[in-house]
Amino acid sequence: MALSKMILNINGVDRMLICDKDKDTLADVIRRLGLTGTKIGCNTGQCGACSVLIDGDVIRSCVKKMKNVSEANKITTIEGIGTPSSLHALQQAFIAFGGVQCGFCSPGFIVSAKGLLDKNCNPTRQEVRDWFQKHRNACRCTGYKPIVDAVMAAAKVLRGEITITDLQYKIPADGKIYGTAYPRPAALAKVTGTCDYGDDIGMKMPEVLHLALVLPGISHANILSIDTSEAEAMPGVEKVITYRDVKGNNRINFPMMSPRAKCDGFDRWILAENKILRCGDVIAMVAARTNEEARAAAKKVKFELEPLPEYMNALDAVAEGALQIHPEHPNMFMEFPLRKGRDTRDVMKESDYVAEGSFYSQREPHLPIEPDTMQAYIDDQGILNVHCKSLGIYATLFLISQGIGYPMDKIRIIENPTGASFGYTASPFGPAIVAIAAMATGKACTLTLNYEEHQHVTGKRAPSYANTRIGCDKNGKLTGMDFDILFDKGAYTELGSGLPEGATRFMGMCYTIPNARGLGRVSITNHNHSTAYRAAGAPQTFTSFEQLMDMLAEKAGIDPLEFRYNNVYRDGDVSNNGHKFSVYPMAALIDKMRPVYQEALARAKKESTPEKRRGVGVSCSAYNTCGGPEHAEVAMELNPDGTVTNFNTAEDQGQGTDAHALVHTYEALRPLGLSPDQIKLVMNDTGLCPDTGLAAGSRTHYVTGRCTVDAANKLMDAMRKVDGSFRTYDEMVAEGIPTKYFGISDSTSTNFPLDPNTGMGDPSIEYMWGVFLAEVEVEVATGKTKVLKMHAVVDCGTIGNIQSFEGQAFGGMMHSIGFALSEDYDDVKKDINLVNSGFSYINTIPDAEKYTVDYIESPRPSNPFGSSGCSEVFQAGSHVCVLNAIYNACGARIHELPARPEKVKAELDALAQGKTTAPKPYFLGSDMWETLDEMEKNPV
Ligand code: FES
Ligand code: FES
Repeated sequence: MALSKMILNINGVDRMLICDKDKDTLADVIRRLGLTGTKIGCNTGQCGACSVLIDGDVIRSCVKKMKNVSEANKITTIEGIGTPSSLHALQQAFIAFGGVQCGFCSPGFIVSAKGLLDKNCNPTRQEVRDWFQKHRNACRCTGYKPIVDAVMAAAKVLRGEITITDLQYKIPADGKIYGTAYPRPAALAKVTGTCDYGDDIGMKMPEVLHLALVLPGISHANILSIDTSEAEAMPGVEKVITYRDVKGNNRINFPMMSPRAKCDGFDRWILAENKILRCGDVIAMVAARTNEEARAAAKKVKFELEPLPEYMNALDAVAEGALQIHPEHPNMFMEFPLRKGRDTRDVMKESDYVAEGSFYSQREPHLPIEPDTMQAYIDDQGILNVHCKSLGIYATLFLISQGIGYPMDKIRIIENPTGASFGYTASPFGPAIVAIAAMATGKACTLTLNYEEHQHVTGKRAPSYANTRIGCDKNGKLTGMDFDILFDKGAYTELGSGLPEGATRFMGMCYTIPNARGLGRVSITNHNHSTAYRAAGAPQTFTSFEQLMDMLAEKAGIDPLEFRYNNVYRDGDVSNNGHKFSVYPMAALIDKMRPVYQEALARAKKESTPEKRRGVGVSCSAYNTCGGPEHAEVAMELNPDGTVTNFNTAEDQGQGTDAHALVHTYEALRPLGLSPDQIKLVMNDTGLCPDTGLAAGSRTHYVTGRCTVDAANKLMDAMRKVDGSFRTYDEMVAEGIPTKYFGISDSTSTNFPLDPNTGMGDPSIEYMWGVFLAEVEVEVATGKTKVLKMHAVVDCGTIGNIQSFEGQAFGGMMHSIGFALSEDYDDVKKDINLVNSGFSYINTIPDAEKYTVDYIESPRPSNPFGSSGCSEVFQAGSHVCVLNAIYNACGARIHELPARPEKVKAELDALAQGKTTAPKPYFLGSDMWETLDEMEKNPV
């Protein structure tokens, strides 16, 4: 290592530093100086999270070697742009316009935008977008539109047209902040780069060991031996940890709750024992003084593997003669039926029109900008503290305790500020391995995956293969559906029962279908395990059903939007699982969409050319709020100074649960007349807060609202005197009245799991509804599709925070565009970074009046403020409007996602020869009808 002294001017100050000019990047050096507002996401120049200015030019500091940095350069980082007490207009605008969700990308965007506005303080929106495209600024949360809004507003401040004060939130005259754009409290730290995320926390911990993983580079093998001796002898190494060091049973504890499951849910090793089941399995971990030492030693761990056949998709894994991947259970570990009304074999024969097809949806990667990161240490009370990105910190206690061998009541899980997850953190693997390392070494440990490791280790959305059929009568009324869908669960069964059960809930959702038969199946493979992802289990079913709705409408000679209008739920209709809903807004949503649709159709017709064909597609979408019967709590405490603290574990994955908790508390305590800054939040720490449940199923806003109102009422009842005024804290104490109360939300007596023999049941309290439109342009010569416009009309109940609502809308629709057109994690050698995985950069997403959301608000009776959730409806079925628009544009029906250019082109070429690339019906392990008959004869 050749070290050099340098003096660098950073943020206007000369800083002396020592670095290895050949090895260190500018990002390494800046972060070592404590300027951790410069984030490391991809670390390969693909995300812009590390953007800084050098002499006014935007550069990605993670790929700028120090040998290419001169002492004459002037460097500006996010910390040099503004401070919490003196914000730059860009920072204030990002707060005001919701340019910050998880916030991990925000410093990079703000620095990049500063570089633009310093050169051109009157840019057009497209110039802003082109700038971010050129500088590879990537955001996975916002859908980019709020970021561009923020830059345009900041530019106005810089031009003197408005003041920075105009961008600050003001409480409305009626004092009500529910439903307004109240900014999230954490945004201030995020826009100034002062928010420490997991890796920042890890590098600032004292006496911490850095971990590096040993991965197998193969997806299926027997482990013959593991030799750690050479690695143990490497400089700085404290310990090399394998499964032999694990004190517990080395399993993730995910019990399978369905009587239909042929497994117990304990099949996932934390550290690999005698087999490799996917390329993200961890053979060993090295704990060393520095990250570099740990990674160098990890390369010296020797292991012998005996390769086994790799089953990289579910069709191969359920084919006759396939090896059983787990010794304890068959590859196809669960099948779940739906049985409603008459046998659809008869129904289809009687139907005037029938559409059928086979559809594949891919292994969608979550692609957060922050790769997974976690820390752990045992404190002087013997408590094992684990910091991570979890979306279920209480659940994690239960899921890892037995496996790591540490008592549940001695583990404390803390959610770090999180650079987004979108669901993958439902799997507690990260917390488990870092906890094992802290236990094995007796020292504090930190681990941050590089992006390739992140891709292999963290779960993805389950791919699916579906054979689906729907029928209607001559008036276009649906008569029945049947479907057979197989999910690829990857290497482990965890959370697996939700997929086949979910198929029976989401297939045909939004429509009254009198007769249905269906089978949801799920199989183990040797690919990465699937896990939660926004709208888990739904996009797979909408992929086939919403395309078939267009295909059937065409056969019946009815416009696709009107065909849907004929069939959506009306007041009192029952779902395909036989339950009713609290509201029925689908027809009203379509009424609102109709003029936008007609205008888009006319425009597409006018602007279409033989070379660039334009088309319009629609799709309906829905998702549940709360996945099943559940119980949640928050606590509320009156403080000595008259302020109130809300304690909750509504994990913030970027959706803004801090804003939700604050707004709920403020509104619920209005009789006390508190201002927002008199409300304190203590969140996401099992050592301090009660269990508010998972940040999943679009439930955090809805459930914390219910709990908070209950807690607030209990607190105010205790404070209320006979004359109606309220006791002070001192008066409460003097009278011996408790100052802390727990609020509850409970649906265990009102909602029920699905019947395993029929699929009938009512697991969820509320639902969200939507209809989506896409306008696309398909370049015929290449098959390349561009989404020109996307519009949503939804009903999520009363909107609690317009900034969060729009954030979920634009972010969710962005994921859907990527799902439809480009994103995949399939090739484990190639899909290791954002670009290869088809990440959606800014110019692939529409903007301004071409990227919009409209809504109606049907108050939900089960929520005191009338809200439902507002997340997953935007990603359940909205991708299909893009696929339907491609068909409308050029006649290419894409059955197997994503609709990358080569696939669209192949279908266009096939059509020209009177052929098609549509797949034949998939063989999904058995004949569906025989399996359904067997299940009926032998109920569980
Ligand atoms: Fe540097 Fe992604 S571009 S961290
Ligand atoms: Fe941009 Fe989360 S706010 S990545």
